[in-house]
Amino acid sequence: MGKALEGIRVLDMTHVQSGPTCTQLLAWFGADVIKIERPGVGDATRGQLRDIPNVDSLYFTMLNHNKRSLTLDTKSAIGKKIFTRLIEECDVMVENFAPGVIDRMGFPWEKIQEINPRMIYASVKGFGPGPYEDCKVYENVAQCTGGAASTTGFLDGPPTVTGAQIGDSGTGLHLALGIVTALYHRERTGRGQRVECAMQDAVLNLCRVKMRDQQRLAHGPLKEYSQYGQGIPFGEATPRAGNDSGGGQPGWILKCKGWETDPNAYVYFITQAAVWGSICDLIGKPEWKTDPGYATPDARLDKIPHIFDVIEEWTKTLDKFEVMRICNPLNIPCGPVLSMKELAEEPSLRATGTVVEVDHPTRGTYLTVGNPIKLSASPSEVVRSPLLGEHTDEVLRTVVGLSDEEIAAAHQEGAV
Ligand code: COA
Repeated sequence: MGKALEGIRVLDMTHVQSGPTCTQLLAWFGADVIKIERPGVGDATRGQLRDIPNVDSLYFTMLNHNKRSLTLDTKSAIGKKIFTRLIEECDVMVENFAPGVIDRMGFPWEKIQEINPRMIYASVKGFGPGPYEDCKVYENVAQCTGGAASTTGFLDGPPTVTGAQIGDSGTGLHLALGIVTALYHRERTGRGQRVECAMQDAVLNLCRVKMRDQQRLAHGPLKEYSQYGQGIPFGEATPRAGNDSGGGQPGWILKCKGWETDPNAYVYFITQAAVWGSICDLIGKPEWKTDPGYATPDARLDKIPHIFDVIEEWTKTLDKFEVMRICNPLNIPCGPVLSMKELAEEPSLRATGTVVEVDHPTRGTYLTVGNPIKLSASPSEVVRSPLLGEHTDEVLRTVVGLSDEEIAAAHQEGAV
């Protein structure tokens, strides 16, 4: 069975997290991803947050599966020639260097297009055109500048970043969609194009509902926010909403049995209107089904914090999995707060390939997150990340077309 992106070759100039997330996805779908790394140095994350001395970090291994590694000094004379050949031979080029780096290497978009008009050139930057376009950006900067931090956390606390890497991995995901869209377009036109994704834009896209709320504020208080029920006035901007659901069905994180000692003994509980009667029965408040102060979603809006306090008295008597077992058959949407330990050990995630054990020649076995996107005709197998320069000679010979003598010369010059 052929993979969906088989035959697509990717010149992968990415590093750290945002770009590598994107090219790893393309590799999982079958593209031949050739990661270019500086000789002797490589992607900085190989050495960051190391848990085992002199071994590629989990940061690197978990973002660079299914790729080949070619070391290349793109600023040396031989390196520039090899790089030009790679541009000719590849379908897609992806980079997430700081603004201007690719131009300084001598390969601006105009030149790439000239070398290979079919090339799809994709890049991640912190910001799009405007006052901040020259800035370097990391994950949490994007979370702050894209609207996530100002809307995350509790009303009485500071802006908060989230553990989900929406700036880096979120932008990488957006970029991957841009690339496959451009590949589809190339099928019809024969021409490549430029794909750009700014981290600020990607985060803002993921915070779309908060921009929705910003505009709703002009027409009155946001009644589904707990602060409405608490009588706290709204300011000019979308506030932090704690654990409010963000949708039309109120929700909150509630304590479960063991919360005093277990930091994750909590459940997310949604009081979906359609199952209000079942919720009332469960928590021992059958009278709320007919009480005009509680019977309709509108009537409940100013009492949401109180309602969740009462539901919590019930959830505190059960462990988080019991709450889910009881609520699911009643169609009450809820979910336990799962720790990374629990997720790593969850058999169903192992069975679907979402959590995978990988063998690595210098590290031994480690756990990783596999491809979350499942294609029926193009399943992903997770192949360990490459060692630095592991495929240099192989790529120079088979893709670039160098002879053994030319490869030896490139090594001698320190170009690879
Ligand atoms: N051969 C020769 N030189 C190479 C090379 C190679 N194979 N690979 C990288 N380099 C050089 C670059 O040319 C650049 O040199 P220059 O600045 O002298 O032109 C240098 O290495 C490093 O590039 P840079 O991107 O500036 O790295 P950094 O470590 O200083 O910054 C980021 C890291 C992530 C902040 C920055 O790359 C960035 O803002 N990227 C865009 C946004 C982004 O993706 N951020 C999230 C990362 S998860």
